[in-house]
Amino acid sequence: MTSSEPASTGAVDGARAPWWRSAVIYEVYLRSFADKDGDGTGDLRGLRSRLPYLAELGVDAVWITPWYPSPLADGGYDVSDYRDIDPRYGTLADADALITDAHALGLRIVIDLVANHTSAEHPWFTAALAARPGSPERERYFFRDGRGGGESPPNDWISAFGGRAWTRVTESDGGPGQWYLHTFAPEQPDLDWENPEVQDDFDEVLRFWFDRGVDGVRIDAAPAMAKKAGLPDAGHAPDALFESARWVDSPHWDVEGVHEILRRWRRLADGYDGHRLIVTESVVNGPERLARYVRPDEAHTTFNFDYLHAPWHGPTLRSVIDATLTSLAPHGAPATWVLSSHDETRPVTRFGRAETGTALMGTGSTGERSDLALGLRRARAALLLTLALPGGAYLYQGEELGLPEVEDLPEDVLQDPSWERSGRTVRGRDGCRVPLPWSGAHPPFGFTADGVAPWLPQPAGWAALTVETQRADEGSMLSLCRAALRLRRLRSDLHDAPLTWVEDLRGRPEVLAFDRGTAFRCLVNLSPEPVALEDHGRVLLASGPDDGSLAADSAVWFDRT
Ligand code: GLC
Repeated sequence: MTSSEPASTGAVDGARAPWWRSAVIYEVYLRSFADKDGDGTGDLRGLRSRLPYLAELGVDAVWITPWYPSPLADGGYDVSDYRDIDPRYGTLADADALITDAHALGLRIVIDLVANHTSAEHPWFTAALAARPGSPERERYFFRDGRGGGESPPNDWISAFGGRAWTRVTESDGGPGQWYLHTFAPEQPDLDWENPEVQDDFDEVLRFWFDRGVDGVRIDAAPAMAKKAGLPDAGHAPDALFESARWVDSPHWDVEGVHEILRRWRRLADGYDGHRLIVTESVVNGPERLARYVRPDEAHTTFNFDYLHAPWHGPTLRSVIDATLTSLAPHGAPATWVLSSHDETRPVTRFGRAETGTALMGTGSTGERSDLALGLRRARAALLLTLALPGGAYLYQGEELGLPEVEDLPEDVLQDPSWERSGRTVRGRDGCRVPLPWSGAHPPFGFTADGVAPWLPQPAGWAALTVETQRADEGSMLSLCRAALRLRRLRSDLHDAPLTWVEDLRGRPEVLAFDRGTAFRCLVNLSPEPVALEDHGRVLLASGPDDGSLAADSAVWFDRT
């Protein structure tokens, strides 16, 4: 154990199992968490001041979205310097202090590594633009001549934010020139990971942060990092949707070379003490392809998007859970269970719609009405389901408060690149990124100094959802979440006992029932009817009213000893 490691390991005994095998990791979207310097944007000192809140909530680690210098063309996922902190968020000294404080509170720190692309303002890219076609500066990226005499993009690949994945540059002689590849926005040029300079530099970036004490990295857009040689057409129509979960043999997604990069990083991470974590964001076609990211010499864990995108439907959730566990078992990797993130519609809103499943980044307002009371009941039940499953779990800031998606943000504040790239038809992800309500009766609800406008406006109705209000209410989502995390910490069966389905409830496929070991049972009623409760044991925690039956859209944890 080094001095930079957390003082306590929570319920997970570091000597027995690496901490990440069953950790609950809280995602902080830094811009929207807490603002200390009063500019309306969250920052590191704001996060640092709220670390005791996270420790008290009972999570094990904090994943911080990109904190690097960035023009914010994609909320920080466009990095212009991988070895510094954006001045809007603070300084390297603030990051060091944050890591130290977090460790003293028993919290680990995971940071985002955006390696598929840099910002267009990264010195490598500005040098590439200034250089000539074919120069080494251009070879760190994908610069190619266009087709049709240069007029058309080099191939038919599409961007995740809409439109073609290629942009044409103006050469230094002022004429139209080559095209460069960007899987995301034009301000996010893709790096060529075949280039040894790129590989070596990112080794240094990883060391830079591991040496400073970060406990893990979340690999952004991992399946994008390798491309098929020759960059052949993918067969995409220009207006095709970016549906990576459906693609098979894509030349620009989930290509074999990605795994080489992960192996390199795994070797590097394993050279450090303290079980440094590599977790990938990999939206790929099904659990078998996903499991390839967590082979024993690759990432330790990977986000489970099939679970995140699943509808509120018992048999579907059960089959996603089974497929996840079955596909990961041969590699010995734990599952991760995720319901929410800075890219996805908030669960309270999506579970209150008729269409409860969601597609990747198919977020924001769909125009479909949501019954938020129903959505909240389901989100509460889903929380107990998620925290009872074997493996690790992620909570996205505000999920513990049951925040809904903000669907009526004025158009002139929208910042997600999807909005402009879609010709202002897809509102994008800003609705799940609205700054947190901490206290008080009016915006900015303690997020920033009174009188300062947060970077996205908060709904006036959030007075009822502040941390302060919910702390004082035993029936709140926050209280439920704290109670669930406390129990999870205390019970070793929730860390290491396998899941067994309770088959005598099979006659009710809309009721999920499973045990973890012999002493713990979880029941979730996804049907519209209440279920009479036989003797399942002593109720530990209930998401709904505790009246002897399991109400529709509710969940209960039992102790069976
Ligand atoms: C990931 C991030 C998302 C970002 C994209 C491009 O999906 O979670 O926010 O827009 O990668 O970096």
